[in-house]
Amino acid sequence: MKILVLGGGGREHALVWKLRQSARVSKVYCAPGNGGIAGEADCLPVDLKNLDSMVALGERVGADLTVVGPELPLTLGVADEFTRRGWPVFGPTKAAAQLEASKSFAKEFLQRHRIPTAAYAICDSMEEVRDALAHFHPPVVVKADGLAAGKGVVIAASKEEAASAATEMLSGKMVGEAGARVVLEEFLKGDELSFLVLSDGERVAPLVAARDHKRVGDGDRGPNTGGMGAYSTADIVDEKMRDWLVNHIAKPVVAGMKAEGAEYKGVLYCGLMMTALGPMVLEFNCRFGDPETQPILMRLESDLVDALEASITGRVSEGDFKWSGDASVCVVMASGGYPGTFEVGKKISGLDEAGAVEGVKVFHAGTSRHDGDFFTNGGRVLGVSARAAELETAVARAYEACGKIGFEGAHYRRDIAGRALKKD
Ligand code: AMP
Ligand code: GLY
Repeated sequence: MKILVLGGGGREHALVWKLRQSARVSKVYCAPGNGGIAGEADCLPVDLKNLDSMVALGERVGADLTVVGPELPLTLGVADEFTRRGWPVFGPTKAAAQLEASKSFAKEFLQRHRIPTAAYAICDSMEEVRDALAHFHPPVVVKADGLAAGKGVVIAASKEEAASAATEMLSGKMVGEAGARVVLEEFLKGDELSFLVLSDGERVAPLVAARDHKRVGDGDRGPNTGGMGAYSTADIVDEKMRDWLVNHIAKPVVAGMKAEGAEYKGVLYCGLMMTALGPMVLEFNCRFGDPETQPILMRLESDLVDALEASITGRVSEGDFKWSGDASVCVVMASGGYPGTFEVGKKISGLDEAGAVEGVKVFHAGTSRHDGDFFTNGGRVLGVSARAAELETAVARAYEACGKIGFEGAHYRRDIAGRALKKD
């Protein structure tokens, strides 16, 4: 069968890599793809901000299955359009993708369905922000309502700081239209967890959990990014906790969406804070996480095509996935200046040597290829990933591989999975 993957980041490279391992797959296309993906799939141009462009591509490729990587095409309604034309597509409808596209929708939904989340207030003006702040104790989390590529959240140490972040958002200065409404949230303490489930609108099958590292610097310092690295192990959540998360978070969300007439099919990414009072939802994403997908798929031993199809056809069951007990990790190498401004077009060296380290797979995120050489072409450039029986070995292998790669301005965190290793 022919598969089309929409997107061009590290997550999509991991999806292409895993989909190609299916005996059922004869050809993989990726649009727009990137320099590394081009070695494993036919890359085609597309404008992921434009529904017509994606429909024209769908017509041209005639794929037996389209897998949508990023949120933007989903929130524009690519799944609705493809489904209407009878083209099998993996990912939620525009209405269901609201869970990610609007934080106020997600918070009100959580409250309606009594799913644990931080206390919050939704504000459309500074007057409302000032009134609401009276009921919060700092630190206060200020969030832009709409999609902001990880840049729409400020953790304010004081009410003054919260008010000034809200002003920046509401005025459109910080994240444009996405900040026209803001959500204030109580600050939660704990370890974060990325808990993803596959849903067919009714049933869910959990994926193995992963832990992202969102801040740019070691020790969780500096601004938030799209994610600087992630790891997954067999014991990141135990069976009891996994069942709790399925029964008290994932299933109620899927049942609630169905009851509200916006059936949720696809991957539901629950961003959780494991607090002293129990797990609480920080956010939802309507897609696979990036970089979590890299370590998660490195542990997947069963056929990904079968699983994604089960979501479309309504046949999801808990046994859809077979996982390795190994540990896996992904270390993101980023361009100098990321998550702020950065230059592109820097030549990348050492990729072959890095890929030759045992258990390592280098996923490309922001790269391009010219005459056999690879160049940087984005903020997050590479996801250097490794799998091994022990987390410590996987981490050592990933960092050994990172050490072989060079490009001007390259930076990466040295402490991915560091806290998990200290606990052992
Ligand atoms: P979000 O896009 O809502 O997941 O927020 C991005 C990041 O901000 C999260 O991954 C957390 O690290 C942090 N964050 C968001 N909400 C809270 C909260 N209520 N308490 C503490 N940290 C938060
Ligand atoms: N790594 C966080 C995300 O995919 O949104």
